[in-house]
Amino acid sequence: MKRIILIGYMGAGKTTLGKVLARELNLELIDLDWYIENRFHQSVTQLFATRGEEGFRQIERNMLHEVAEFENVIISSGGGTPCFFDNMEYMNQQGLTVYLKATPETLRTHLRMGKQKRPLVAQKNDEELDVFIHESLNKREPFYNQARLIFDTGLLDNGTRIQETVQLLVETIRHSLNTGVQG
Ligand code: S3P
Repeated sequence: MKRIILIGYMGAGKTTLGKVLARELNLELIDLDWYIENRFHQSVTQLFATRGEEGFRQIERNMLHEVAEFENVIISSGGGTPCFFDNMEYMNQQGLTVYLKATPETLRTHLRMGKQKRPLVAQKNDEELDVFIHESLNKREPFYNQARLIFDTGLLDNGTRIQETVQLLVETIRHSLNTGVQG
C-alpha cells in the first residue's frame, strides 16, 4: 500500500507535479482542495467567504482525515494544511510526506499567474504578494520541514521542466520507499 502526501507553499507545484507523478507511479491523485470543493459544492474562495478562514481550516482538517485513509493515492494538500492543528504529525503517520520546496522567487512567479483562485492572495498587488510570501513562508517552513522528504523544485513553466522534475522526484520517492524512510 502506498500513500504519498505532497505538501508545500501555494504555487510550489503540488497539483502540477502531483498529476504527472500519479501517472508515473500508477496511483490516484487526490487534490485536497478539489475534494473539499466537491464535497461542499462550493469553491475554496466561497468557503473562505462564508465560513472564514477558521471554518475552512476545520473542514480542511476533517477532509484530510478522510483522504488520508485512502490507499494507493497521492494526496496533494493545501499550502496551509500542515500548519494547523496536528495535521503535520498526522500526515507523517499516514504516509510518505514530501515537501516540495521552492524559492520565494519561484513562488512569486507561479502565484502571479495563479492567484485568482487563492483567497489569501487574490487581492494582493505584486509588492504585497512579495511581502506576504516572505512573511508567511517564514512562519510555515518549520511545519513543512517536518516532512520525511524535502525536494527542491524550480520553475515549472513548461512541459519539459515538469517532466524532468517528476523524473527526479520519482527516483527520490522510489529510493525512500525502498529504504523504508516512510513512517
Ligand atoms: C492555502 C492554499 C490553497 C488553499 C487555500 C489556502 C494556504 O491551496 O487550500 O486557498 O493557506 O496556503 P494550494 O496550496 O493548493 O494553492
